Amino acid sequence: MVRDVFDSVAASYDVMNDAMSLGVHRLWKAALVDWVAPRAGRKYLDVAGGTGDIAFRILQRAPGALVTIADINERMVSVGRDRALDRGLQSGLSYLVADAQHLPIPDSSVDTYTIAFGLRNVTHIDQALADAFRVLRPGGRFFCLEFSHVNVPGLDKVYDLYSFKLLPELGALIAKDRESYKYLVESIRRFPPQEELAARMRGVGFERVEVRNLSGGIAAIHSGWKL
Ligand SMILES: C[S@@+](CC[C@H](N)C(=O)[O-])C[C@H]1O[C@@H](n2cnc3c(N)ncnc32)[C@H](O)[C@@H]1O
Repeated sequence: MVRDVFDSVAASYDVMNDAMSLGVHRLWKAALVDWVAPRAGRKYLDVAGGTGDIAFRILQRAPGALVTIADINERMVSVGRDRALDRGLQSGLSYLVADAQHLPIPDSSVDTYTIAFGLRNVTHIDQALADAFRVLRPGGRFFCLEFSHVNVPGLDKVYDLYSFKLLPELGALIAKDRESYKYLVESIRRFPPQEELAARMRGVGFERVEVRNLSGGIAAIHSGWKL
């Protein structure tokens, strides 16, 4: 089902991201990459990497980094490949069509694992977390940027109104796809709140887990180390 959703939104995905978030997703992604602090020569795995936003930012910050984009959806990967060509970004980038729950990647082979707006779509979150832990080398770090749960009184009401009323309308108008954007809102609500996700990360072995809320908890970044 998730594959169908992203098949149907792949072409309009980038425009919709800007429209839905009024461009704020760019700030959140920049905050993620700031925290990642990419370095040349390191191996980055961007899971659910879609059309390449995180991978491109990593490479722009650290030319000489090695970044693999892994995504379950071939269409999203192919839109990403075209975008990379348009931006003249080729060296250091590789692509993999793969499921976050069973990555065809050797144990302990990655320095940094990122997943942005992806974990919410995975069927078994704990399985994806466990596989992230497996592919990271000891000393490697995990980062997840995801929609989360608003923790500012008052903002929650506005956000509910926006998500349940305005967002599906925007989806219908811009992407001609109301159902996929309804799925988006529902998947955000179902996703575990900040502390629960942190606990589930600890549950698969991550240590020194930290959370940073963005925009009052509309999104959050979780980080954890494989020590
Ligand atoms: C909302 S997009 C995020 C794309 C990109 N990371 C970004 O921030 O713009 C979610 C992506 O997750 C991918 N996805 C969904 N389930 C997945 C899974 N089990 N394994 C890997 N990728 C998955 C989808 O194909 C889609 O490209």
